[in-house]
Amino acid sequence: MANETLTITDNRTRLTYTLPITDGNIRSMDLRQIKKDASDFGVMGYDPAFMNTASCRSAITFIDGDKGILRYRGYPIEELAESCTFLQVAYLLLNGELPTDNQLHDWEDSVRHHTMLHETSKQFLEGFHHDAHPMSMFISTVAALATVYPDSRNIHDAAARRLNMTRLIAKVPTIAAYCYRHSLGYPYVYPDNELSYAENFMNMLWRMVEPKFRANPVMARALDILFILHADHEQNCSANVMRSVGSSQADPYSSTAAAAAALSGPLHGGANEEVLKMLDEIGSKDNVPAYVKKVKDGEVKLMGFGHRIYKNYDPRARIIKWTADQVFAVTGRNPKLDIALELEKIALEDEYFVKRKLYPNVDFYSGIIYQAMGFKPDVFTVLFAIPRTVGWLAQWEEMLTDPEQKIARPRQVYTGYAERHLTTEQKSTPQSATANR
Ligand code: SDX
Repeated sequence: MANETLTITDNRTRLTYTLPITDGNIRSMDLRQIKKDASDFGVMGYDPAFMNTASCRSAITFIDGDKGILRYRGYPIEELAESCTFLQVAYLLLNGELPTDNQLHDWEDSVRHHTMLHETSKQFLEGFHHDAHPMSMFISTVAALATVYPDSRNIHDAAARRLNMTRLIAKVPTIAAYCYRHSLGYPYVYPDNELSYAENFMNMLWRMVEPKFRANPVMARALDILFILHADHEQNCSANVMRSVGSSQADPYSSTAAAAAALSGPLHGGANEEVLKMLDEIGSKDNVPAYVKKVKDGEVKLMGFGHRIYKNYDPRARIIKWTADQVFAVTGRNPKLDIALELEKIALEDEYFVKRKLYPNVDFYSGIIYQAMGFKPDVFTVLFAIPRTVGWLAQWEEMLTDPEQKIARPRQVYTGYAERHLTTEQKSTPQSATANR
């Protein structure tokens, strides 16, 4: 075995330090011993946006950005999307193994029996203006569920933890559907426990006066695949928030609401909505070259392109493109796809994007499918949050059960004033201050 150590010479003191390398990395805390003198705090790693910092050890999701690889608990995303249902994959992410038939039956049954929302949640939703953004309603309503389930604060009780995790996974489609119905002024549709996870979501979204909702099987399967693709993505921005908020031992509803708030940003999960706005702004294939020039001039970002980890094609984007063909066979082709394909074609041939390794990410094509399925763009990020709730909860529980983890509290490099004191005229006793009023 090679000598798994790193030897560092501090040229300020000529001292050398030998740090152990574990799994190819050093512990940042091992840098603290490197001091210029006894009064020195010691060396830290300065890493804005955590470009090269591992915050945890995790066994849930593996990504190889250069090779365009994504695996959940070791299984390639392509195999899971092709052969599994979303609830099977949810079970895998949470438990580390795919469920047996009996385990799947019990898991599906458990989720089905937690899809209802407490009636106060409906009153809570009624407080929103009709044109409130669905993501803001979603975030708020998830947080409000903590008031319904005070037992969720028992985060060290494994049974209570799992019960509230199941409640969240079961209820986020209901919350999403209720937000959607509220924005249209439609009555809420209660869950139908005879339907699958995706079919029940469609039922709560779109059932009107028919006695039983019948989901189009192609659309239901497409939604299930999209849920699988969005379920987890290791330490992305929102997962980092889930772990950070959860590390203070906040309840899972508050932590999930915080993670959803992070996801809502246009650089993260909000990108799918921005992609549709961008395609609308471009308007036609003929306008694509002019828009690409605006991107290259730094005026706008090409939404749905680029990724912190993937420096090759996002494997999810490839599967989504395949899924789009299935949906368009039912709904008719979304003309925006032609603009998106032209945009991708030009970008992949242009030095600006090639040099920066900018490829379509998961958000580039998903919105085009969602729109063809009948969703409005402002609901797209809610559609991302539903399946990602599983990933957030898997990351959250892994953090809570990791003996190395404690409350997250980064350090800083201070760049402000050295100590200074109030001047005589700044000093004023409270009575003199009021005397001047
Ligand atoms: C998701 O982390 C995850 O795993 C997230 C996610 C998940 O499943 O959780 O995969 C989901 O959030 C996907 C990303 C969705 N966001 C977008 O599509 C928004 C557009 N993309 C960019 O904002 C950007 O690519 C990020 C935010 C995704 C990544 O940003 P980075 O890694 O911080 O890269 P950067 O901003 O430092 O960019 C490097 C260079 C810069 O150019 P220079 O300053 O070197 O000249 O690439 C350029 C950037 O200007 N660049 C882009 C670009 N993305 C990066 N230029 C034009 N269009 C873009 N989209």
